[in-house]
Amino acid sequence: MITFDSVTKRYADGTVAVDGLSLEAPTGEITVFVGPSGCGKTTSLRMINRMIDATEGKILLDGTPVQGIDPPTLRRSIGYVIQQAGLFPHRKIVDNVATVPYLLGWDKKKARARAMELLERVGLDLKLAERYPFQLSGGQQQRVGVARALAADPPVLLMDEPFSAVDPIVRTSLQEELLRLQAELNKTIVFVTHDIDEAIKLGDQVAVLRVGGRLAQLAAPKTLLSQPADEFVREFLGHDRGIRRLSFISDGGLRLRTDLAVPEDFTGPSDEPWLLVVDGARKPLGWISPDRPSERLPYGTYVKGRDSLRTALDAALLSPSGCAAAVDESGAVVGVATREALDEALAVAADG
Ligand SMILES: Nc1ncnc2c1ncn2[C@@H]1O[C@H](COP(=O)(O)OP(=O)(O)OP(=O)(O)O)[C@@H](O)[C@H]1O
Ligand SMILES: [Mg+2]
Repeated sequence: MITFDSVTKRYADGTVAVDGLSLEAPTGEITVFVGPSGCGKTTSLRMINRMIDATEGKILLDGTPVQGIDPPTLRRSIGYVIQQAGLFPHRKIVDNVATVPYLLGWDKKKARARAMELLERVGLDLKLAERYPFQLSGGQQQRVGVARALAADPPVLLMDEPFSAVDPIVRTSLQEELLRLQAELNKTIVFVTHDIDEAIKLGDQVAVLRVGGRLAQLAAPKTLLSQPADEFVREFLGHDRGIRRLSFISDGGLRLRTDLAVPEDFTGPSDEPWLLVVDGARKPLGWISPDRPSERLPYGTYVKGRDSLRTALDAALLSPSGCAAAVDESGAVVGVATREALDEALAVAADG
């Protein structure tokens, strides 16, 4: 666990970057620091591994003040990932990842084997190991950055906007990769971003900071969205707060119709504007409108009992019918959530 106990950072020119910050980042969880530019996120993060020293207050690592640990020792137990990866340009990828093992005096073979294992773990093709950083895409470089930070298997990982320099699609896959890795590794992660969507997706808890380095709210994403502490947090969460909140509401309340799924040889007639054609295993094939039964249109699915209302809504928006196909874990259709059913569920969610 990382504890901030009334931590203040005043730079030499008098700038108060962090002001009386107190919070805990629990072991094995992802704590996200989010807030506008200049609110002290990077300063807070760097005080943990003593790249910056606090002016007042204490930061404790499992109860021990970091100020009492010499920086090299401290940094061996703390991995650090920054924007644009910060790889050494003249070292091959494998040697970049093995940086800390080399520093720890591992023999070269063991260090390289560890590096290869980590490259695989973060989802990189091992062929890339012999390349140099400039020969990799931005997203690949970020993965290498994560692999390098994990090389010595540190219990703590600090990540400062690690995914903000890549395009949205690569960014999404990096976020998913991080969550997958974290499910295996259970590191204590402090993750800095200014993107509220990223904070909500990755954080077990989210600390919203305001300029001047003051904590506006510390809460689980769901609580943050449903109970913003004040106007600043509400503004920061933005107008999409309602939509985002749906990610935390189960699809359980959605009324399903089972009469709208029809077999491939269906010829009509029907009074329904839309019907979902399914194969022999009840896997969806496409929507038809009964007046044009040969034209199958795109559909979207969500897994009943597992996915959120947000996923169900996204599934409906993917389809010209405006309906979402509810499937079981095997992908077989169990029913259809019509636009009316979605409207009802959204109305209930808005009240809750
Ligand atoms: N070395 C320094 N000397 C003086 N002021 C500094 C120094 N480093 C940072 N600051 C100031 O401290 C405040 C917090 O900076 P910090 O880099 O922690 O913000 P941040 O939240 O990480 O911002 P960003 O989202 O832009 O990365 C800012 O006002 C910044 O200008
Ligand atoms: Mg910063």
